[in-house]
Amino acid sequence: MTALARTLSGFDVNAVRAQFPILSRQVHGKPLVYLDSAASAQKPEAVINALGDVWRGSYANVHRGLHTLANEATEAFEATRGKLAAFLGAARSEEIVLTRGTTEAINLVASGIGLDLKEGDEIILSQMEHHSNIVPWHFLRERKGVVIKWVPVTDEGALDIEGYRAIFTPRTKMVALTHMSNVLGTLNDARALTEIAHRHGVPILLDGSQAAVHGPVDVAAIGCDFYAITGHKLYGPNATGALYAKGDWLERLPAFMGGGEMISEVSEDAVVYAAPPHKFEAGTPAIADVIALGTALDWMGAHATPEAIAHEHALMQTATDGLQAMDGIRILGTVPGKGPMVSFVVENAHAHDIAQLMDRYGLAVRAGHHCAHPLMKRFGVTASVRASFAVYNTADDVDAFLDALRRAREFLI
Ligand SMILES: Cc1ncc(COP(=O)(O)O)c(C=O)c1O
Repeated sequence: MTALARTLSGFDVNAVRAQFPILSRQVHGKPLVYLDSAASAQKPEAVINALGDVWRGSYANVHRGLHTLANEATEAFEATRGKLAAFLGAARSEEIVLTRGTTEAINLVASGIGLDLKEGDEIILSQMEHHSNIVPWHFLRERKGVVIKWVPVTDEGALDIEGYRAIFTPRTKMVALTHMSNVLGTLNDARALTEIAHRHGVPILLDGSQAAVHGPVDVAAIGCDFYAITGHKLYGPNATGALYAKGDWLERLPAFMGGGEMISEVSEDAVVYAAPPHKFEAGTPAIADVIALGTALDWMGAHATPEAIAHEHALMQTATDGLQAMDGIRILGTVPGKGPMVSFVVENAHAHDIAQLMDRYGLAVRAGHHCAHPLMKRFGVTASVRASFAVYNTADDVDAFLDALRRAREFLI
């Protein structure tokens, strides 16, 4: 253990790390160094056990059951909704729809909002969006003739706020922006973006997939209409997540998918839908996974403390300093206050080759377009390497990262 991990006040990274069984494995005979948490975080023992506990001890289908197991499963399942509401600062758990993640949450909103849109109506996105906050809106462009307008990104990787202000018109019907870029790490000013949208009378959706991992979210303080999160980045199971929808939005939006669980009555010629949020939760959900997401949120409450978040940022800064000391490295995204990830391009080497060579040294980093084609185009690149940090990473991981990168470059150049 190097000095950095030891000296950060009040944060014992080893105690956190010990809770993640996967981190003690080896890759190609080297200790695994996992720097791909922005793609998906590893899972602590508590979450792994929660899944097993449900399946071993209290599994049954949720809602409508009259037996003990069904009641226990329903109670634990609904408890996650309450934990999500508290995690996001929502006023009521009825404002939380359980989804398969951010992607489903955004599709739900886009398809509902889209029903009322007409040809020539406008939607504002930014150049730094993940494809899951682009493609659902492209559906509306293709199917309804809606126009997508793009908030530009500056050379440093910030949203161009003046550019944002300037693209509203009387035909703007929706804004959908990321709270934190999954490539640049840029943390956008959610409250300011929301205030501007609301001044024009336009609802705003924020993609919180990355931001919610690295700091408290308070949707009430932000004031946004919709906020989407995904469970697997929050140390929880895959295909879980949530949509927060303010006030009566869930009353106003039409049902998304049809099936069991989302109705109160079905006849041969009519459907009466269940009250929201259940109206949006068709079919048997991922029961154990949703319950384990609740465990992940509890775990974050105990371990993703301000000290842990400061630790992640310190690691990112050390990695950034190391990259800046190397020749021929271009870092994408240098806005102060960014999240704990660093994306970069290596001169004369393809990102895929770098990542594959680093894997030989046990390093898990991501390389590619990061599901952000418009952003890649904005920066004139086709791919970058991304190292992202979580509460379980150490200063030794940063050393190993810089060392493996040096070796990969020596091999390639
Ligand atoms: C900013 C951002 N938005 C959306 C997503 C999509 O999340 P999911 O695939 O879990 O729905 C991701 C995942 O990489 C992301 O980083």
